[in-house]
Amino acid sequence: MAYNIVVIAGSLRKDSFSLKIANALTKLAPASLKLEVVTLGGISFFNQDLEGAPPADWVAFREKLQKSDGVIFVTPEYNRAIPGVLKNAIDVASRPYGKSSLNSKPVGIVSNSPGPQGGVSAAKTLQNILPGIAGPIMQQPETYLNAVGDAFDAEGNLTKDSLKPVLQAYVDAFAAHVAKHHG
Ligand SMILES: Cc1cc2nc3c(=O)[nH]c(=O)nc-3n(C[C@H](O)[C@H](O)[C@H](O)COP(=O)(O)O)c2cc1C
Repeated sequence: MAYNIVVIAGSLRKDSFSLKIANALTKLAPASLKLEVVTLGGISFFNQDLEGAPPADWVAFREKLQKSDGVIFVTPEYNRAIPGVLKNAIDVASRPYGKSSLNSKPVGIVSNSPGPQGGVSAAKTLQNILPGIAGPIMQQPETYLNAVGDAFDAEGNLTKDSLKPVLQAYVDAFAAHVAKHHG
């Protein structure tokens, strides 16, 4: 039986590189993992006033995370941090207080950028945010993917040969991280 892993794409953009990387990971995952890519466009703004009667989209997102065996965040970098939509989704997942839907879930972080620095600051932002509300974050291999702008063809298939072994190593390591946590 495979572990169910939610892969969160941190960008809403139709042609998002983050989404394409998330989809590429699903194809490279070993048989021990079943990856499902989740996008964040349907998640209402977090508002503490709504916590008593949470919107259906919050409930569905939380349940999906709760049922999962682990979560991979694939994030772009916006202004040296993560996009607001991703922070919003994490805020939704983190509540009610003390009952985060990410609690005890093994976590992976993959940042990316068409620029030279690979979104490393976004990855570091997640490393700041998640420890209090999620399970163990995989530490190695650190994966900050730079120059992703020419990595995909028009159909969104990964075509950059240098990127394939990097993503393969990442998802294989994540499989071991998940197995160690649940084993
Ligand atoms: C508001 C905004 C801020 C950005 N800030 C950064 C940044 O700090 N570092 C970076 O490498 N790229 C930055 N970019 C460029 C993004 O890396 C680029 O738009 C990327 O394609 C977004 O990810 P996506 O392809 O998954 O949508 C920024 C883009 C936007 C729209």
